Amino acid sequence: MKKKPIIIIGIESSCDDTGVSIIQNRNVLSNVIFNQEIHKKYGGVVPELASRLHDINMTKAVQQAIFLAKINRNQIDAVSFTLGPGLIGPLLVGASFAKSFSMGLDIPLLTVNHIQAHILSHFIQDANLNNCYPKFPFLGLVISGGHTQIIKVNDFFQMEILGSTLDDSVGEALDKIARMLGFYYPGGPMIEYFSKNGNEKKFMFSKPIVSGLDFSFSGFKNNVLQYINKKLKKNTLFIKQNLSDICASIQKIIAEILLEKVQKAIIKTGISRIVLAGGVSANYEIRKIFMYFSKNQKNKKLEVFILKKKYTTDNGAMIAITGLLKYERNLFDSIHITPYSKFKNFKNYTVNK
Ligand code: KG4
Ligand code: ZN
Repeated sequence: MKKKPIIIIGIESSCDDTGVSIIQNRNVLSNVIFNQEIHKKYGGVVPELASRLHDINMTKAVQQAIFLAKINRNQIDAVSFTLGPGLIGPLLVGASFAKSFSMGLDIPLLTVNHIQAHILSHFIQDANLNNCYPKFPFLGLVISGGHTQIIKVNDFFQMEILGSTLDDSVGEALDKIARMLGFYYPGGPMIEYFSKNGNEKKFMFSKPIVSGLDFSFSGFKNNVLQYINKKLKKNTLFIKQNLSDICASIQKIIAEILLEKVQKAIIKTGISRIVLAGGVSANYEIRKIFMYFSKNQKNKKLEVFILKKKYTTDNGAMIAITGLLKYERNLFDSIHITPYSKFKNFKNYTVNK
């Protein structure tokens, strides 16, 4: 007999995007995202405003997701939501909604770690450019506004952090530099846009020296900001006259820093399957440098998996797919579970089923 397909609703609200998605098995039926424009003028996410907007947008996003999926809400088998890490106010809005939804429809509740979900988004049907699922074990590079990590992924829920940023995440550094250049939040996409015709070799900002597989972007960010400030004192038009070159140079150096760490991780672990995830992995230069690296290796076994852009930044589908994978393993959660803002490692978190 044919197995009944599983339908999961995924709810993401860890930062400033309200994401709701419905998936049927690994296929995305709908993926609704409400971005919060209000933070643009503040240069970063204001948690209090983000919570209020999640509250306003959540019901609309859920209604739209169900409508676009062309299903009846009674067909949903389970509700999955982001438990952490992230901003506690926004997380609480998503958690409260998901719990009520679960109780109202009398369906199971599944909780998701946001970092795991970024990686597991590669298991959405057709999510990555290779159009196939990465085999285990692989190395996950999660690069976003909140995280910069190299993770050894042995299985869906067996992950081990090999390296993390010691200070700012790569997205945070990009957003802060972008703000100085006069861009709205989030600045990463603007840096990419203005780098298009720039000379990437014009400004050789020095790379941070960090041992092992950890990262540091705070010093790099401060060096760039100080350099620009110094130049502005002599020439107030410095940014305007050099915008493309500054953007291209920053982007290139960041891409190189990320690649160099991943090369180290490959040597250390002997694993030659690399999976990129998180908002910063939408960046053209980063994608290019990793693709080039994989194509020009003597070791033809090296594979790099890159997501279609819509799955790189925060979205409900990554929460739904992670929920589905937990559903298949009966990893349900209690209605009394509460969100967490910080997360150190997967040691006590790993699920071995
Ligand atoms: O994964 P994400 O949506 O949220 C977090 O989990 O943090 O990542 C957001 C980050 C922001 O810092 C944003 O500037 C960056 O991803 N970002 C980019 C690009 N698109 C988004 N950075 C560089 N180039 C892009 N195209
Ligand atoms: Zn994220």
